[in-house]
Amino acid sequence: MQTPMQSLAPITRHADAAGIAEGARLLAQGRLVALPTETVYGLGADATNGEAVAAIFAAKGRPRFNPLIVHVADLEAARRQGVFNPLADRLAAAFWPGPLTLVLPRAACATVSLLVSAGLDSVALRVPSHPVAAALLRQTARPLAAPSANASGRITATSAAHVAAELGGRVDMILDGGATPLGLESTVIGFDQGRAVLLRPGAIAREEIEAVTGPLAVAGGGIQSPGQLESHYAPDARLRLNAARAETGEALLGFGPVADAWLNLSPAGDLNEAAANLFSMLRDMDEQVGAIAVSPIPETGLGEAINDRLRRAAAPAPRRGAKE
Ligand code: TXA
Ligand code: MG
Repeated sequence: MQTPMQSLAPITRHADAAGIAEGARLLAQGRLVALPTETVYGLGADATNGEAVAAIFAAKGRPRFNPLIVHVADLEAARRQGVFNPLADRLAAAFWPGPLTLVLPRAACATVSLLVSAGLDSVALRVPSHPVAAALLRQTARPLAAPSANASGRITATSAAHVAAELGGRVDMILDGGATPLGLESTVIGFDQGRAVLLRPGAIAREEIEAVTGPLAVAGGGIQSPGQLESHYAPDARLRLNAARAETGEALLGFGPVADAWLNLSPAGDLNEAAANLFSMLRDMDEQVGAIAVSPIPETGLGEAINDRLRRAAAPAPRRGAKE
């Protein structure tokens, strides 16, 4: 993969107390710091600083119309930015801190830059549980905008090395907290006329959300997530899904007990293990093969989010810059 500024070595620091303190200092100055969360690495900046938020869009090569997730320390901090409704309260109580993002109307007293919402009157909020992200939020005492730390449209980064390969010298610091435990982005939920809407399947399975909200409405009516464009998470390699086996010229990314897999997301057929391996295995294979066949993956539990990412990764890419 080529990124234009890869030659400028980024500053990768171990996410120990000194590294976190330095990261918090840079963030408070409006600089960009890549940080681990329990889902994937985020490209963080002070969400209340419009120039810092603009620098995120520039570093990712992301179209301005795609809004960013704002990370906050706790529910109280979230209430200062977004207007909660009873279902949102219940979801926050059930899943925060954790891999759930709530899209809510922007509060009248909100301090986050209008640019994070990219022109919408809503704001996407999440309280991460990863200790490094939580420490940065505490130490900076401000909300942090952090989209996934990959170049726009590309495979999501789940390790500090992936961030360095994706964003190179375009970030001021990368805090290395090891591989991210879940490996899939947060589940994004919006609300439409009192009903919860699934805007992006993610690390919390639909079934778990529905146990709190009842059946989720389908996105596409009153509320949309601009990030849900067709092509996304895209490797350079050609991707063929639901493949029983690899054809000539292809390497198999397996799931379950399949023969001749080049790599296997989970030989035991465990969807949590497959979610954690998805982006790093796609990335490994993309570096070494030109065509990838992927075993069928069930649509249940985290399979919904895994298949969502795979379908987008397989979709024909639009012009560079026209995707997320
Ligand atoms: O796990 C995650 O959510 C990671 C980590 C770093 O927290 N972040 C992440 O951010 O995946 P990003 O920016 O790559 O994805 C944000 C998603 C996009 O699909 C975007 O369109 C949607 O959230 N989103 C953000 N703000 C929104 C809003 N106001 N209304 C609707 N959708 C929104
Ligand atoms: Mg992303």
